Amino acid sequence: MTATAGVCPVDHRALFQTDNQTEVKPFSAMPGSPGLPFFGRTLDYYRDPNRLFDELYRRFGPVWRTRLLWVDIVCVCGPDADEYVLMNRNKVFSNEKGYEFPIGKLFRGGIMLKDGETHRRERLIMQQAFNKEPLQQYLNQMNPDISRYLDRWVPRYRNGARIHFYPTIKETLLKLAVPVFVGERAGRTARQLNRAITDVVNASGAFLRFDVPGTKFGRGLAGRRYLEHYFGSRIAERRNSDMQDMFSQMCRAESEEGHRLTDQQIIDHMIFLLFAAHDTNTIAMTTMFYQLGRNRDLQQQLREESLALGVDQIGWEHLNQLEGISKVFKESLRWIAPVPSLFRATTEDTVIGGYEVPKNTIVIVQPSHTHRMEEYWRCPMEFDPERFSPERREDKVHRFAWVPFGGGVHKCLGRHFAENQAKALVHQALLKYEWHVPENQLLEMDYSSMPKPKDRLPIKFRRRRS
Ligand code: HEM
Repeated sequence: MTATAGVCPVDHRALFQTDNQTEVKPFSAMPGSPGLPFFGRTLDYYRDPNRLFDELYRRFGPVWRTRLLWVDIVCVCGPDADEYVLMNRNKVFSNEKGYEFPIGKLFRGGIMLKDGETHRRERLIMQQAFNKEPLQQYLNQMNPDISRYLDRWVPRYRNGARIHFYPTIKETLLKLAVPVFVGERAGRTARQLNRAITDVVNASGAFLRFDVPGTKFGRGLAGRRYLEHYFGSRIAERRNSDMQDMFSQMCRAESEEGHRLTDQQIIDHMIFLLFAAHDTNTIAMTTMFYQLGRNRDLQQQLREESLALGVDQIGWEHLNQLEGISKVFKESLRWIAPVPSLFRATTEDTVIGGYEVPKNTIVIVQPSHTHRMEEYWRCPMEFDPERFSPERREDKVHRFAWVPFGGGVHKCLGRHFAENQAKALVHQALLKYEWHVPENQLLEMDYSSMPKPKDRLPIKFRRRRS
């Protein structure tokens, strides 16, 4: 760990040593706040998990217990604890069991819900669809669509209009996803896919999780069945095609030993990928546009960087030249982590932070709290992209201080895709529009499922070119 001027890292490493089994206290001695009978601290968690984590971290330190719904949960705080759980060196933390409750029914078989050797084998094959060449193809495919959809945000006759940015970017990214992920262009099937993906994604935040037609969750399961049928009936054809979308890449992908994914694995991984890619980048771009709207000097600085490239749509060779967008993207993910909580479950009795923890306990890692710890970040509540400049690199204070994409073997497979898409879209938006968010307009988030702005984020957009 290296210290950066202005911050004072706390060293919890000794508490989270893999082989430190001395002075272990019983589970009953672990401090915590169970909250109300039955509900525990669920309402506080849904209202603002960061505030809950901050309060309990200050009271109890880096490891404590609480109850969410009727489930007893262990929460860990800070980079040392995050590293301990996410690196999983003792192999005692399971993703499959950890995510069973929040998303198991909708995303069974998805790569993030797999463990051990099965996970390793399938991820190696999936990785082929995220190598340089396919990523380049996705970028080239997305560019003209980005241009078309951005033009529709504010038509000429409504120039200067205020739009609700959150639903707008959500719809834009969904429409971009269908051709790039699935290889389907406009038409009835694309519209049905759109509907099914939206229903599955929305169901992941449903409170009641029963297969009742007409409910959010029931619609999500129906959406999943549609997607299963859609993918299942096209795999044979795509295995022999030369199409460049992610689905076709996954159908043809082979490990070095020549293993391919089975039909069922492709179906499960595709459904999970559509979910993993969707709300996450929606939130990242929501924060980026909000912050650039508030800070118009920064917006103009980024526009000049984009203008200097001299192209309407970026190619692979331009990605490294958009340093300003890159810093804003990173800082946006720090400021609001699109995946605020990561879930694991213990597969055997183990020790966490000096306490015994029984088998089958849910453990939560909270990147959104780690990202706002004063011990690691200078003025963490401030939006300051320069903290990622080569001179400062505050994220380097600890390798798990900045963890929007997680860490260890489950680290986000789509992180480069996400950054490329953000760069391609923000670059075009900077050339087409100027936008403004008043200084006093706050970004208040609803955390009842994935974070989203409570007011859907109204922003005024003005076209730059006739
Ligand atoms: C800003 C955007 C994104 C953020 C913040 C994000 C965040 C994350 C996080 C935190 C995890 C790890 C979860 C855990 O360990 O429990 C993860 C896993 C994953 N993400 Fe992303 N993600 C983003 C975009 C994407 C995109 C665009 C894709 C696909 C194109 C994607 C595909 C995946 C996959 C497949 C996994 C599971 C990897 C595994 O378990 O081996 N993500 N993501």
